Amino acid sequence: MPTAAEVEAGALPVHVGIIMDGNGRWARRRDLPRTQGHLEGLKAAKRVVQAASDLGIKYLTLYTFSTENWKRAAEEVGFIMNLVRKYLFAELDFYRRNRIRIRHAGDLAGLAPEIRREIEKVIAETAAFTGLTLTLALNYGGRDEVVRAIRSLMAGGITPEALTEEAIRGHLDNPDIPDPDLVIRSAGEYRSSNFLLWEAAYAEFYVSDTYWPDWTASDLSAAVQNYRLRERRFGGITE
Ligand code: IPE
Ligand code: IPE
Ligand code: MG
Repeated sequence: MPTAAEVEAGALPVHVGIIMDGNGRWARRRDLPRTQGHLEGLKAAKRVVQAASDLGIKYLTLYTFSTENWKRAAEEVGFIMNLVRKYLFAELDFYRRNRIRIRHAGDLAGLAPEIRREIEKVIAETAAFTGLTLTLALNYGGRDEVVRAIRSLMAGGITPEALTEEAIRGHLDNPDIPDPDLVIRSAGEYRSSNFLLWEAAYAEFYVSDTYWPDWTASDLSAAVQNYRLRERRFGGITE
């Protein structure tokens, strides 16, 4: 029997989703405020986006703020929203250099108008880039996304017979982006926390104990290498 390492590695994942967790614990371990963890988490996000782009990954979705994260203290929520407002568009040169196209997943209507404007601006400015597509899941919840999709189908007068998996898939936030092949979670927790519930039905999961602010290119490479040795069956049987 060949060892896992000797098995020929399979293809790169086309779409990688990351649940960026552990900012608060990273800060607490250093006796710093949780907000400092989010600031370091932002730097880690930029490192990992660069790494994904360098690896030739086509789609990366970063879970940045969930529909449940509004439960947190107003100060922490405000800090995270401010980071998005200050840095999302300001990194335009970085996106341009790397030909990164920005998208959004989640409920835009539930975001402050000035955040929405930043998101819409950066999506428009990067729309023609053909490198990595980076989707920011902000005010995102998997259940919320499915509810919004069904609402939009119903508003269009869909009949019960026409309500198929394809119809729902076509009304999710980014119907043109393929389902994630690999979902990564940092900071050691084994749960999806409402991330890409519909799309990740057959994603491979990878959990790393490393807190998100400590993530570097090599953590992403390790996750991708691990994925390449997996056998995906999609409910079928391997001959
Ligand atoms: C992830 O880090 C960032 C967000 C959820 C916005 P956390 O803030 O959840 O960090 P922990 O889980 O408390 O360590
Ligand atoms: C998931 O992390 C959401 C994001 C990373 C944006 P949480 O820290 O909110 O998840 P739970 O509360 O531990 O499930
Ligand atoms: Mg957390």
